[in-house]
Amino acid sequence: MELTRRGFIAGAGAVVAGSTFGECALPAHDPNLMVFFSDIHQHDNTVRWKNGPTQANAILPELVKEVLALRPLPANAVVFGDFSASCGWMEDFRLAAAAMKPLSDAGITLTLGMGNHDNRVCFMKVFPDYRSRCLVPGRIVSKVSTPNADLIMLDTLKSRDGEDWAEPTSKGSHVEGTIDDAQREWLRGTLAAATRPTFVGAHHPAREVGIVKEIVTAPTVFGYMFGHDHVFAEGFLSDGYSNSQTVQTATLPSGGFWGDIGYALFRTFEDRAELTVRQTDFWFNRRWQNKQRPKNWTERVRMHDGRKVTFWYDKPGNFYCG
Ligand SMILES: [Fe+2]
Repeated sequence: MELTRRGFIAGAGAVVAGSTFGECALPAHDPNLMVFFSDIHQHDNTVRWKNGPTQANAILPELVKEVLALRPLPANAVVFGDFSASCGWMEDFRLAAAAMKPLSDAGITLTLGMGNHDNRVCFMKVFPDYRSRCLVPGRIVSKVSTPNADLIMLDTLKSRDGEDWAEPTSKGSHVEGTIDDAQREWLRGTLAAATRPTFVGAHHPAREVGIVKEIVTAPTVFGYMFGHDHVFAEGFLSDGYSNSQTVQTATLPSGGFWGDIGYALFRTFEDRAELTVRQTDFWFNRRWQNKQRPKNWTERVRMHDGRKVTFWYDKPGNFYCG
C-alpha cells in the first residue's frame, strides 16, 4: 500500500504545523475528523446570468481558510451538493474546484455529492478523477471511512426529463430529490452487509427521497446528514409510531449563499460521532446588504454556532409487539 504524505504524518501522531516531508510542509491530519460543506453555490457571472448572485464566491474561501487553520486538520472534507448557484454550469464547477483546492493541497481528501443545482456531465468534466470513486454506475455515489465509522454519500439529483447525463439547460434540474431503483437496491445491499457504524449523507432530506425505512431499519446506521434547506436543524427519523427505532439527523448550513452560513465538523469516536456547527453569519440575499441588520439574524448565529449533535452507536431492535 502506498504511504501517502498525509498517512505518514498522521501516522506519526504529531500535531506539528510546519513539519516537513520532502519539499512540502503539512500539518498533521485527524483521521476521525471530517469537515462538511453544503450548498456552496458558486456562480461565474462573467459567462452567463450576469446579474446572478456571487456572494458565495467570496464567503466560501473564508470558510475554507478557517478550516485550514485547524490543528490537526480534518483528514476528509465532504461537500453535500449544490456546487452551482444556477443550473450546474461548468464554469460554476470550476469556481467550486478552485475554492476547494486549498483543502486538497493541504492533504485533505474531498468527497463530493450532487445537489439539485448540479449537473453530472459538468461535474465529471471538472472532476474527471472522481469517476473512480463512484460506487453506482451513472451516479456520484461514494464512501469515505474513518477509523471508527463509514459515511455513504448518495446522489439524489433528479435530472430533467430523465436525461441523466445531458448538458445543463437553463431550466436546470428538478428541485426535489430522488434516487432510482438501481441506487436504492445498491443502498439496501450495502446497508444489509454493513458491519461498521455507518452514516448516510445526501443533498436532500431522507423523507423526500423516500429512504426513511432503509435508514431507520438498518442496524448499523446511526445518522443521516443532508443540506438543501440552508438552515441548520437537528432531528430524528422514525418509520412510523410502530417502530421503536430512530435515527438522528442534522441539516447543514450553507457554505456562503443564503440562510445559515457556515460548515460543520464531524468527529467519529468508538461509541459515537459528534457534529459541531460553525455558523459565521445569517444571510438573506443581496438586497439586504446595505440595510440595517435585523437583530434576529445575530441571535440566530449565536444560537447555532458551536451547537453539537451527538450520534450514539446505540440502536434498539424493533420493540413493536402489537
Ligand atoms: Fe442549495
